[in-house]
Formats: sequence, structure tokens, C-alpha cells
Amino acid sequence: MKKKNNIVIVGGGSTWSPGILKALTRHQDIFPFDKITLYDINEKRQEVIGKFGEILFREETPDIEFTYTTDKEEAFRDVDFVFCQMRTGGYPMREKDEKIPLSMDLIGQETCGPGGFAYGMRSIRDMIELVEDVRKLSPKAWILNYTNPAAIVAHALNMVFPDDKRILNICDQPVNLLRSFGRLINRDFNEFEPTYFGLNHFGWFTHVYDKEGNDLLPEIKNYTIKNGFLPVDAEQRDQSWLDTYAMVEDMIKDFPDYLPNTYLQYYLYPEYKLSTLDPNYTRANEVMDGREKRVFEECERIAQVGTAKDSHIVHNDAHGDMIVEVAASIYGNLRKTFIVIVPNNGIVSNLPNDLMIEVAASLGANGPQPYAVGEIGTFYKGLIEGQYAYEKLTCEAYLEKSYTKALQALTLNRTIGDAKKARNILDALIEANVDYWPELK
Ligand code: G6P
Ligand code: MN
Repeated sequence: MKKKNNIVIVGGGSTWSPGILKALTRHQDIFPFDKITLYDINEKRQEVIGKFGEILFREETPDIEFTYTTDKEEAFRDVDFVFCQMRTGGYPMREKDEKIPLSMDLIGQETCGPGGFAYGMRSIRDMIELVEDVRKLSPKAWILNYTNPAAIVAHALNMVFPDDKRILNICDQPVNLLRSFGRLINRDFNEFEPTYFGLNHFGWFTHVYDKEGNDLLPEIKNYTIKNGFLPVDAEQRDQSWLDTYAMVEDMIKDFPDYLPNTYLQYYLYPEYKLSTLDPNYTRANEVMDGREKRVFEECERIAQVGTAKDSHIVHNDAHGDMIVEVAASIYGNLRKTFIVIVPNNGIVSNLPNDLMIEVAASLGANGPQPYAVGEIGTFYKGLIEGQYAYEKLTCEAYLEKSYTKALQALTLNRTIGDAKKARNILDALIEANVDYWPELK
């Protein structure tokens, strides 16, 4: 029988970890493993999730060894899969990423605009270190990365480790959208075969085929224009997410070719979005007051009563399921289709080769085999090239410690688009990120 896996979750103390752990216990048939370790640099945070994990695995899969640690050596030795979801600076820094731009009348969002830039500059450092650490102890492990901002992280890792074919960057938003399409038109999303292109948090579904080859895109579009757009798990979502999904309707009305990723709203309607965001209470506050509280309190309660049997701790099944299904597809060479982030290398023929494209791919033991897209239209090409230049310059600013490149990056970002505004926000972000960024010269 095929070897079972040894896996580690980096960012063990994340609010998403319980959902991933639960998904892992559910999918033993396709993704069996002997040992799982949570790793985090924040011992106290991770311990709460760790205590929940101990109980969960004892009850669901007692043969699996579950541990948690803050020791890299212990975490990364002889692992087969690294699930990576770190957040450098935690939610307090996310709050700054969102609030500092808003205080200057710019979009404040964790992955888009100046907030995404600041977060990117923090993530690059720790992600490079992570890959180096893992490679010392587990040269062949698959590193499945969903650390944000995934677009910038993916580009930086491709620049620094161009020959490492076992780093796979992936985001759950495309699958969240596919599940949402399924709910709206009352079809099973598992039967969808999507085609998609773009940068991470900056892409479009061009078709959504069913198993018979019918394109469901027109039906999804018509439904949305008539009834609006909702996330699959609307009942569990905070208002800001419902507002975000609702904007899909506007985007489809303005640009009816394709179905857009929700994050495009910040680039297409920055002024409108700005008018709806509260500079004193952002998504980070909503998360800290909501999901974070719920998850940590529930883990503490479970530790106290000693059972997780009656618990509904998970907020978004799609997230955990996707991550485990991705690992399973590699492990079992299942060649299922996922939307992943890979070097373009001609997939979209009229975009640069080193652009990290988000695209549908068949995923097996030898990694993703992306489906070709061909040429894309001028509007999409223009948008993507601007955003790609911004992302590339962000990575170069980090690696070369260049103030000028940072300023160029922010000036190019559609949510800013003005060099004076870019300089002001850059200086403010430098100050807020002294503990994380290199000094820019
Ligand atoms: C989606 C995106 C992730 C992002 C998350 C934020 O899942 O794909 O990249 O981190 O939303 O969700 P939150 O609930 O923390 O705002
Ligand atoms: Mn994402």
C-alpha cells in the first residue's frame, strides 16, 4: 500500500485551522496520513487550537499522531506536505493595512491596494524563510501555500526559487465562487468544469461547463442580473462579505463577457467602495470581534468539556475541503481540476511568461498541468498588465530594498493612481511596518 503522509500546518494558530483539521479527518479515504503537526510562532494562540485538535483526533482518528510545536526542526523534519497559511503581523497588522489607507481616502483592504502591498512586503520575508527552512529538512515536501497576498507571494517565490517545482500557490476564492454559482442555479458545483484566467484576486471565469459540455455561464449571468449574487454560505457571512458578493451583479452588468472574481470590485469601483468602507471599523475588526472570538471560545469550551462531538466550529467548509482535496489530488495522482497559480509560460499567449497566472489545471503527482487559455481581450490584458507590473515592482522593491520601486508599484496600483498619494501612503506604511520590512533606500 502507498505510504501515508506526514503533514504540517504552518500558521497552526489561525482561525481557519479547526476547519482544516476537520476536513482532514473527513477525507482520510483520499488523503491518509500518520502524523500531523501544527506549527506557529505564537505559542499561546496555537495552544488553544492545539487542545481542540488533540480532542478531535483522539475522537475521530485515534491512530493519527497529532502534535503542535513552535520548534521549526520538529515541525519540518521529514514531512510530505506543508499546508502554509501564515499571517505575518496577525490581525492587528491587518487592521493597520486596512485603516491607514482609509485614513488617506484610499481603499483599505488586506490583499488589494496599499494594504495588500504592506502585507505583501511582510509576507515575502517570512515565506522565503519558510521555504528555506522546509527545504533543509524536507527537500521533497509539497508546499501548498495559501498565505496572502497570494499574488505577490507567488511572484516573489517564483523569483527566488524558480526551480522549486513543489511549491503550489492557491486561493479558495475561485472555489468559493464555483460553489456559489452552484447554489444560485441549483446545480452541484462538483460537476462544474471551469475555465478561468487572471492574477490572484484579479481574474475571471470565462466558461463554467457541466459534464455534458453545456456552458452554464449565461444562466449564472442571467440569474444574477435578475436576482443578485450571493455566497454559497450566505447565512454564515458577515455583512461586508454579502456586500462584496452583491457587487458581482454590478460587474456583470458593466462587463458582461465573463464572471468576475469578487476582488475586482476594489479595482473597478474604488471610489464607490471607498464611500462604503468605515475607516474606524474594518473587516479586521469584524473578524476579531466575530470569527476569531467564536473560534477561540469554542476551542476553549471543547477543551473544558473534553469532547468535540457536539461542536460546529467550522465557518467555511469550502476552505478546508479545497486544501485537503488539493493534497489528495497530488498524493493519489487524481488529476482533478483546480484553479491554481502558476508561471504563465504561454498559457495566456499575450501575457508575459513570468507572470503568475491563476488558471484551471489538472493536478496530479507531478504537479499542476494547466489548461491553455490563448489570447485574451484588450480590456483584460490592460487591467492584468497594470496589476502585474504593480505586483512585480512590489517584489523587486522588497528584494532590492528600493524605495523608488515601491513608489512605482503604488503609483501603478489602480486603487491609488497618483504619485503624490502613493508617496504619502508609502511613508505611512513604512512607519507602521518598521518591525517587518527591510529599510527601503
Ligand atoms: C477569501 C480569500 C482569502 C482571504 C479571505 C479573507 O477566502 O480568498 O484570500 O484571506 O477571503 O476572509 P476574511 O473572512 O478573513 O475577511
Ligand atoms: Mn485568496
